[in-house]
Amino acid sequence: MSIWKTLRSRAEDVRDRKILDLFDGDRAERYSAATGPFVFDYSKTNIDTPTRHLLIQLAEQSGLAEKREAMFSGAKINDTEGRAVLHTALRHLDTDIEIDGENVMTCVRETYDRMVRFADDVRGGKFRAAGGRITDVVNIGIGGSDLGPAMACLALAPYHDGPRCHFVSNVDGAHIHDTLAGLDPETTLVIVASKTFTTIETMTNAETAKAWMAAKVEDPAEQFVALSTSAEKTAAFGITPERVFGFADWVGGRYSMWGPIGLSLMIAIGPKHFRDFLSGAAAMDDHFRTAELSENLPVMLALVGMWHNQFCDFATRAVLPYDQRLSRLPAYLQQLEMESNGKRVSMDGEALPYHSGPVVWGEPGTNGQHAFYQLIHQGTRIIPCEFMIATKGHEPDLAHQHILLAANCLAQSEALMRGRSMEEARALMAAKGFEGAELERQAAHRVFPGSRPSTTLIYPMLTPEVFGGIVALYEHRVFVEGVILGINSFDQWGVELGKELALALQPVLTGEADGAGKDGSTLRLAQMVRDAQH
Ligand code: F6P
Repeated sequence: MSIWKTLRSRAEDVRDRKILDLFDGDRAERYSAATGPFVFDYSKTNIDTPTRHLLIQLAEQSGLAEKREAMFSGAKINDTEGRAVLHTALRHLDTDIEIDGENVMTCVRETYDRMVRFADDVRGGKFRAAGGRITDVVNIGIGGSDLGPAMACLALAPYHDGPRCHFVSNVDGAHIHDTLAGLDPETTLVIVASKTFTTIETMTNAETAKAWMAAKVEDPAEQFVALSTSAEKTAAFGITPERVFGFADWVGGRYSMWGPIGLSLMIAIGPKHFRDFLSGAAAMDDHFRTAELSENLPVMLALVGMWHNQFCDFATRAVLPYDQRLSRLPAYLQQLEMESNGKRVSMDGEALPYHSGPVVWGEPGTNGQHAFYQLIHQGTRIIPCEFMIATKGHEPDLAHQHILLAANCLAQSEALMRGRSMEEARALMAAKGFEGAELERQAAHRVFPGSRPSTTLIYPMLTPEVFGGIVALYEHRVFVEGVILGINSFDQWGVELGKELALALQPVLTGEADGAGKDGSTLRLAQMVRDAQH
């Protein structure tokens, strides 16, 4: 029997087993993996020794070790685009790497040094805008050119001592309108972040920002920066090469905040903290590259995820950081995980015989508790939860609030696992004076099935190093899942069709084209938008 089938039947066999019953003396330690500041506890899942053994065998059989080396050494593993996948090189600045006989790190280091000088100039006031020192930075980008730096600026707020940073992504004019509304064009720096420099949302917003600035600033291009792989296109937009920070095509959009796409973050927190952020990720890379599979955090995070998704058939997973500053992490992970592993065919183009990546969603705790946790506890679908918590907050005066936060986090995973039986519910209702059929009815509503799986990632404090480590952990998890699924995690053809159709629909909405060949629904909705323009 193939390992996939064995794992499927194992999931079936242990489905009704109580997670709580698996706890013996030291299960919590034995079902945890640790490195540096992190402990990943997966003891509150239905995984036992034979299951873990099978999962590790699954990873071994997929050729994970060789594929991991192929990625780190610059092989062209993104083979539908003929590219290497080397975002990790951006955080190992001292290690040389050759692609096609060329040491690609010379260029990476040169750009990094320019970023540092520029960030220092902006932060220190040496870079002068029309109105003097820069007070505000607006990063215009979308997807990987937005989610990473936007999440990171929020995550590392306690280290933010540079100009204010704002992020505009949506082509909805409301986004840029509301962002620019409070800003002074004479002291604002606009960063146009786009790997391709063709993304319609970003280029449209960049033109809007340019016009906004031109109304008050004689030469707006002087206050524009570009982050892109296309020197030609940034020049055509009018940005001087001195303020263009380039990178190679082997940095995928959703893996790009470690390099130039992270410029807004570097300006916000300063080059020193940015370097710490890179070091935290580099330490996770080293761990991923060298630790035994059973002790390897990204590997175990991936295997637990696959156990739940591919073998237990739980279609979604909730990411629940008990850390308000990680409130954009779920959105970031939606791109990272779903754009990477939301695929339907294997590397060789064959339809997958199993499900690819799960739906990823979430919100920070405790907010989510007052919104969707009801379904997680008592709904008919099982949703594995990934909790995250720091042992300490950044605010010493508010330590009591951190204790309350942590108590809530731990209580949720406990409640999910423990549940509340019908007997317990009956006792509860009897104590309130209910009897007979009404007692039974009321008690049924108060039953929690329990044995709902969760994991907890715990770390000391959300510092730049820790934050870098968390993001790298999730990047490698995606890689491991992709390797085991046998898919290409580094392309994203699924976003293309919608882009093409939007371009074709634009003239239909303005009345320049009639929309021949379109379906009735699309035409009717288009007509409504068209009518509203007159
Ligand atoms: O449309 C998807 C996508 O290509 C993402 O993969 C990418 O992060 C985003 O668009 C933005 O692309 P760019 O940085 O080229 O503007």
